[in-house]
Amino acid sequence: MIKLGDIVDVVIEKTVYQGEGLARIGEEKFVVFVKDAISEDKLKIKITSLNKKHAKGEIIEIIEPSKNRVKPFCALYNACGSCDCQILNYENLIKEKHKILEDIFCDIIPKDKIYPIIKSPQDKQYRHKIQFPARQTKNSKRILLGYFKENSHDLTNIKYCPMQPEIINEMAQFIRDNFELDCYCEKTHKGLLKNVITRISSHNNDILLTLVLNCSQNDFINYENPIFRFFKKIMAKFNSIKGCFVNFNPQKSNKILGNETIKVLGQDFIIEKLENKSYKIGATSFFQVNPKSAVNLFNVVKDNIKPNSTILDAYGGVGAIGIFVSSGANKITLVEENENAILMANENFKINNIENYEILSGDAKVHFLNFEKENRKFDYVILDPPRSGCEKEGLEAIIKLTQNIIYVSCNPQTLRRDMLLLINKGFKPKFVQGVDLFPYTHHIESVVLFERVENV
Ligand SMILES: C[S@@+](CC[C@H](N)C(=O)[O-])C[C@H]1O[C@@H](n2cnc3c(N)ncnc32)[C@H](O)[C@@H]1O
Repeated sequence: MIKLGDIVDVVIEKTVYQGEGLARIGEEKFVVFVKDAISEDKLKIKITSLNKKHAKGEIIEIIEPSKNRVKPFCALYNACGSCDCQILNYENLIKEKHKILEDIFCDIIPKDKIYPIIKSPQDKQYRHKIQFPARQTKNSKRILLGYFKENSHDLTNIKYCPMQPEIINEMAQFIRDNFELDCYCEKTHKGLLKNVITRISSHNNDILLTLVLNCSQNDFINYENPIFRFFKKIMAKFNSIKGCFVNFNPQKSNKILGNETIKVLGQDFIIEKLENKSYKIGATSFFQVNPKSAVNLFNVVKDNIKPNSTILDAYGGVGAIGIFVSSGANKITLVEENENAILMANENFKINNIENYEILSGDAKVHFLNFEKENRKFDYVILDPPRSGCEKEGLEAIIKLTQNIIYVSCNPQTLRRDMLLLINKGFKPKFVQGVDLFPYTHHIESVVLFERVENV
């Protein structure tokens, strides 16, 4: 029987969803997950945690590396918890991600209907939204901006991140050198600057900058002048910064954003362009992090919609998918709960000259239940929920509204749960198409098309 602290030799069998390697130990083939391990690695590991079902282990020695193992290209790979899959080259990582999808879905859809993953057009500098926590060194008060080490709140100061456009590295350095107020300290809950958020357009490189502050909107009066001066200075240095905002988040919490955001300087939005569609994006509204790959994702959705259809774009954000597929639409109904995203969605339908649309604000589930009561029908329902997937009650209402569901998911595990429910209720998944929106991370985006085959 395996125990905590045991040291064992293993061979990694496959990669699993969280980006870890899976091996089996002993005659009972007890499952152990090993971080930073890939198929065919021969390793000496130490068991670091254990429950009835499986163990976790950390590598003590690589006895014989997999032939696919490569050296991580980022110097901060071990210090930064962000891109956790760099020990495979991009081609092989895509193949592993495909195998992961096969593993998760092969008992509910034929393997040949799990299509090869569409690669990201860019595997570096693809991140167009960056959120850097801000902290300060104890004695010298040097500003640190970067990412937390994995499973910790120890900040790694990141002077160069290969995943973001170069200008964001330069802006981060400017903030380190020029921001004059204190940064946040989690221990004392003191200090002003908690996070720096940038959004950059892949179309014209325009940028929105948001500083998340540890103060309420009422207390902002104490910091208004220095913040205003700082914004003027950074906008003078980087003329692609078009708008500067502050968000108020005085709570002791892991949530990055508080509820209130105000614009301090410049314009309210930047313009992103995906193929021939334009989008106004605000400082806090959701938009796909990798816009060039999002085009591939949205084309999978678009290619599966017949012309002249009525479309429900649920969890619609600023209207990204609904607008992208609008040429095939008779009418688009968008449902979204974020007020800022709704304002932007309204504008976005207008600037793309789409007339036959309706935007409904509030919780998606409540709207699905209302549609069911009203006996409303849609030719297609597009679902693009957050990582947690759809709520069961909402999903049960959706199946009464349509014959066709296109489910866009950033979490294959909650997607599987929701797929099982839909299959149970008479829908058949026609394909699973992975699209890589997040190169060198374990994240996998997928699109699944469902058609109703029986009434249950
Ligand atoms: C994964 S994003 C997708 C946004 C959009 N489809 C896109 O591609 O840009 C999920 C969206 O769902 C919204 N959302 C989350 N929970 C919701 C709920 N219960 N009801 C309505 N909208 C919700 C979020 O505000 C966010 O805009």
